Amino acid sequence: MQKRSFGKTRDGKEVFLYSLENKNGVKAEVTNFGAILVNLFVPDKDGKVEDVVLGFDDVTGYEVNPSYFGSVIAPSANRIGGASFELNGQTYALKKNNGENNLHSDDELGSHKKVWDVEEKEDSVTFTLKNGDGELGFPGNKEFKVTYSLDEENGLKIQYEAVSDKDTIINPTNHSYFNLKGHKEGTIEDHKITLLASNYTPADAASIPYGDIVPVEGTPMDLRQELVIGDKIDSDFEQLNFAVGYDHNWVTDGYTGEVRKIATVKAPNDVRIMEVYTDLPGVQFYAGNFIDPQSGKNQAEYGKRSGLCLETQCYPDSIHKPNFPSVVYGPDKNYKSTTIYKFV
Ligand code: BGC
Repeated sequence: MQKRSFGKTRDGKEVFLYSLENKNGVKAEVTNFGAILVNLFVPDKDGKVEDVVLGFDDVTGYEVNPSYFGSVIAPSANRIGGASFELNGQTYALKKNNGENNLHSDDELGSHKKVWDVEEKEDSVTFTLKNGDGELGFPGNKEFKVTYSLDEENGLKIQYEAVSDKDTIINPTNHSYFNLKGHKEGTIEDHKITLLASNYTPADAASIPYGDIVPVEGTPMDLRQELVIGDKIDSDFEQLNFAVGYDHNWVTDGYTGEVRKIATVKAPNDVRIMEVYTDLPGVQFYAGNFIDPQSGKNQAEYGKRSGLCLETQCYPDSIHKPNFPSVVYGPDKNYKSTTIYKFV
């Protein structure tokens, strides 16, 4: 485990970058600012190494980070309709930061903008963040733990754990943007995707699910057979028109609470192939439709669809949808989940 400075935050706290490297030349670098995945170097078939995630050179970039590059989002990723919810007879108000709704808990004060505590081990790093009762509007004194590790099969494993002393919403994710050609290499529309999901949760124009679980069959949302993303992303289909492309929750097949494969993404000519494994019931496939033009790491210029996210999670707005798997955790129910991004 190598460690180096990643700069100082606005209020003068030094944060660090931790490197995990395996024998095959895969290297993941993560920071305790936001528990963010900053760099992910992956060799192609001929051994040419590229960094395949979008990001910034130092902590200063991540203090702005409007697109949540690489971030761990907690307590609640994705949207909560009306930016409020009721739990055990109490009403809780969240920040309205996406029209009338809440997106990713809090864009300014969220977990992706906090300095996390660090525990370094030989081949993993664990970040810990405490959230007070009522912080960001969510009940319960909570503690989140995120562990990154890299194995010799090129799997970057992210393990999440959370405890709370009151019932609350726990639905974290990692919001990395992948471009398997390399983070500076423009659009992901030429990547091929397979999502092992027979159903998805259609949503309204503000991306709040209606609450039904609908087959993908016969629609451009059917990604069960490998598809070039650009082939159907701009189809004249209401769900795609609403979201300006793919930005939906898929109900991944085979949910039992065990880790299983849910997705494969391939760069053109299959030079790099990534598989996604998780024990969670859903994944938000977001094609980066709303990435505003911005400068990134190593003089990169990012824009619309220059990276894609596969945000493993429970379904959005589950707290208002009794038929969706529950996102309520508390004194009698700790949260634990695993997601692996694996390069084959
Ligand atoms: C959402 C997008 C949003 C992006 C950045 C994704 O999880 O689904 O709609 O633009 O995050 O906030």
